[in-house]
Amino acid sequence: MSSASTAPIGIFDSGIGGLTVARAVKQELPGEHIIYFGDTAHLPYGDKSTAAIQAYSIKITQMLLNQGCKLILIACNSASAAGYELVSEYVGNSAKVLNVIDPVIDYLRENYQGKTVGLIGTKQTVNSKVYEQKVQALNKNISLQALATPLLVPMIEEGFFTGDISKKIIRKYLRDPWLQDMEALILGCTHYPLIKKSILKYYGPMVEVIDSSVIVARALKGFLEFHNLINKHPGGKDHFMVSDFTDSFQASTRMFFGEKIKLERSSLWD
Ligand code: DGL
Repeated sequence: MSSASTAPIGIFDSGIGGLTVARAVKQELPGEHIIYFGDTAHLPYGDKSTAAIQAYSIKITQMLLNQGCKLILIACNSASAAGYELVSEYVGNSAKVLNVIDPVIDYLRENYQGKTVGLIGTKQTVNSKVYEQKVQALNKNISLQALATPLLVPMIEEGFFTGDISKKIIRKYLRDPWLQDMEALILGCTHYPLIKKSILKYYGPMVEVIDSSVIVARALKGFLEFHNLINKHPGGKDHFMVSDFTDSFQASTRMFFGEKIKLERSSLWD
């Protein structure tokens, strides 16, 4: 465990989708050394119970603390919704903990007072109502309309994120009456940055598409600066671990991270 600025940042997700967040973090903070953990043995988290996600999250967090991480970033929306409070409590003063929901809530507070905003995410994220509760707590008269869009994760993982099939599925969800008359749409899932272009095209310029990976990376930078934790001596090697390794996970890293990386199999669940 460490709070030294040169220590790594631990980032975890249910699988490899969280690489969209890791990628945004590396773009914003190229000098940071990251240890990524994708719990591919248990994905998808989006359909799991809160209790199961909490148990996985605690075990992963402990492993990242053992690696000396100065900060744990829960890159998965479903795990942020189900496990952030428990993970924070568990970590205590051993490291900092961030999730992917709070930076978006801060963004809404600054930009969407009195307005209507949509949210798409997994069943776990949407049914948890965590976004609604946090928006309500802002007391800024923001109305949130959330829709679970469970077909999008498997669709993207199978490589359908451009082309007719994906367009039809995306359109079917976005035409839902619940997602009308809003000024922004939050992409509340690790995978959705890959279909951002299609969603932007669907709405045109009147609806802002809020990509949480970018907002989270910016918030992380501000947070590290504030706590004097920016790594001023870069050079550590990044590690990308998964709890179950397959060639197909390896092949899709490029899709989510934008460049080739080497996945390492972790023995966490052995
Ligand atoms: N990482 C998950 C999320 O952001 C999506 C994939 C899953 O359901 O495990 O909610």
